[in-house]
Amino acid sequence: MSDPVTKLAYQTLQQGKSLLGLAHKEVSTRLMELVAPDASARTVAVPPEMLGSLRQSMDALLELDWKEAQEHLYSTSLLFDAPWLDWVTRYPLVWLDLPAIWQRRSRRDVRDLPNDINPKAYPDYYLQNFHHQTDGYLSDRSAELYDLQVEILFNGTADAMRRRVIAPLLKGLQSNPSQAAHPRILDVATGTGRTLRQLRGALPNAQLVGLDLSTAYLRQANRWLSELPGELPQLVQGNGEALPFANSSMQAVTCVFLLHELPGEARQQVLNEAWRVLEPGGVLVLADSVQLQDSPEFSPVMENFRRVFHEPYYRDYISDDINQRLSNAGFEELSASSYFMTRVWSGRKPRDKK
Ligand SMILES: C[S@@+](CC[C@H](N)C(=O)[O-])C[C@H]1O[C@@H](n2cnc3c(N)ncnc32)[C@H](O)[C@@H]1O
Repeated sequence: MSDPVTKLAYQTLQQGKSLLGLAHKEVSTRLMELVAPDASARTVAVPPEMLGSLRQSMDALLELDWKEAQEHLYSTSLLFDAPWLDWVTRYPLVWLDLPAIWQRRSRRDVRDLPNDINPKAYPDYYLQNFHHQTDGYLSDRSAELYDLQVEILFNGTADAMRRRVIAPLLKGLQSNPSQAAHPRILDVATGTGRTLRQLRGALPNAQLVGLDLSTAYLRQANRWLSELPGELPQLVQGNGEALPFANSSMQAVTCVFLLHELPGEARQQVLNEAWRVLEPGGVLVLADSVQLQDSPEFSPVMENFRRVFHEPYYRDYISDDINQRLSNAGFEELSASSYFMTRVWSGRKPRDKK
């Protein structure tokens, strides 16, 4: 395929995903209002001009995604990468799960978790149904639906937002004097491994490690990642607040869409741990929701996200000073940029600190 044709195919795919995401949300919200009105959240009005700004911001994200693939930061095939067949077969399950989500929402029941888990194995803040999802993060059923649910939530842009960690990561690795041929990169809270999949497309020789508290999500990650050629990423069950890795053992750490689900102290502790396991000169790249300070124009969208989904730490997160937290942890050379609904921060462990 020539480049203009590939670009058109990418744009068409994204438009299709966006329309499907919007249609799903519209129809499911109408249905909920009809059959489970108690589950409806009171949302704030989104002014029409903001919808235009959101559209522009999303188009800018996709344009950048295309440009960076053309510049060979990562393979163009990543732009089309998704388990399509799996998603088509699982889509009916997303609908079948909705009544249980609505019931939980009506009852304000956010601790409805599988009976067979050991609560002592997890921090208290984790033992909740984030987004009211069935089983929280603690079952295979939840893990099987997660990627599709996130795609719908972000109107098909989730991976394009995850790929924003790649440019600062490559820059950070290139300017690290150690210049490892097979850099060891840890993805904290890797979930089902979508970020590792993007990183593999950019760094075929890297030694990738993914850590998450959920064994069910890691099992799903293993299923997806074992399809890829090359070395299998190492997947480790553990807590981002107490990483089971030696000091200075990683050249880079990434962490995507975790911080907004943590209380402030845990957020700081995850950054402190990233600093500890990075080698001197190593780079940390974070991606998470935009915040009130960098994207005040989208504050109604942030407010509605918090009201509609069970996200107990989001309000605190959107006002949190992540640069200050990075400095507290010891990071230097900080930088941050926003892309659509995602903000990306990077920082370096000073070269003279062990
Ligand atoms: C919103 S998901 C993001 C997953 C993935 N990074 C992505 O981009 O889709 C949050 C993930 O963080 C994990 N998680 C939450 N608290 C954690 C902690 N303290 N340590 C490790 N993982 C954690 C959850 O199990 C879940 O997989």
